[in-house]
Amino acid sequence: MIEYADVVVGLSWGDEGKGKVVSHLCSGVDYQYDMVARWGGGSNAGHTVYIGGEKYKTHIIPSGVFHGVPSIIGPGCVLHPESFYSEIEYLQSNGFDTSLVKVAPNCHIVLDEHISFDKANLAGKLGTTGRGIAPCYSSKSARTGTLAIDALDKQYIWDGALEGRLLCEGAQGVWLDINHGLYPYVTSSETLPYAACGIGFPSQSIRNIWGCAKLYDTRSGEDPRFPAELLENPLLKELADLGQEYGVTTGRRRKVNWLNLNMLIKSVQLTGTTHLVINKCDIIKELGEYKLYYNGKLVRFSNFNRMKSFIEERVREGSQYVRDILFSHSPEVI
Ligand code: IMP
Ligand code: MG
Repeated sequence: MIEYADVVVGLSWGDEGKGKVVSHLCSGVDYQYDMVARWGGGSNAGHTVYIGGEKYKTHIIPSGVFHGVPSIIGPGCVLHPESFYSEIEYLQSNGFDTSLVKVAPNCHIVLDEHISFDKANLAGKLGTTGRGIAPCYSSKSARTGTLAIDALDKQYIWDGALEGRLLCEGAQGVWLDINHGLYPYVTSSETLPYAACGIGFPSQSIRNIWGCAKLYDTRSGEDPRFPAELLENPLLKELADLGQEYGVTTGRRRKVNWLNLNMLIKSVQLTGTTHLVINKCDIIKELGEYKLYYNGKLVRFSNFNRMKSFIEERVREGSQYVRDILFSHSPEVI
């Protein structure tokens, strides 16, 4: 039986700093968890965490492993064995206990043919990460897929039960969700908190929902909402450089735009966010330009505090569930 589940979810297009929030939550300082689990996606995700001043990156393995907490890759995820094993080796060589890492027996396996199909047919057109995600979920839906139990070393197969306090680690973000994103410019999994229940617990167990965003928007991959012209805007270019907006998984330069506050409010509503974390405020302060889109207009503020109050008021008006709003920094600034 689990006591409760807290969920960390991306409110935008991924790259919101979820890794940092998860890492803080399971560091045992303010909160404690008995398990960390991922509910969707695969190695398309890229989680960056800073532990003791060192930077670590993972793609499929949940961040609990950095803090000695059992880390489960749930049945809704897709896993490429070679990438998984190389991540295991990477963690081992950095001294982390990888016996904590377990994969649900019915997690689907990304085959090399999924990756080659993705690279040949989807990466160019949709700007996918080329990790075989869509073809693997296609095989899953067609019921021709391969399960982890049939493809992975037994030592990594999870045969336990969910217990105690669970932290669910989201991947990607609301606007990449297969149902709620701008199809087909989406990923193939469900990124909203309700999908976390797919790990294997009832929805009543959900306690806190940590929604993560940034003080500006970024997008890696194709998206009509982020036209290529954005890459040419000098101020946004400067913002991208200051924020080091390059993909963790693909190394691509992300398209950057001012925060769309209406979309953020919508995703706070959709997810039922109770704790909103807005990251990378230091980057906007460094840039010294305080702008966001609201009701189709670009609104400009004279300083950070005015922008902050504007966001706080609109978000609180928009959702009855929000308890805390935290304006935070780049991960390395924490
Ligand atoms: P796929 O998930 O590799 O199929 O990619 C589909 C779309 O989602 C592309 O636009 C990717 O750039 C985007 N995407 C997938 N995972 C992430 C992520 O973790 N962060 C940011 N964008 C992502
Ligand atoms: Mg990420």
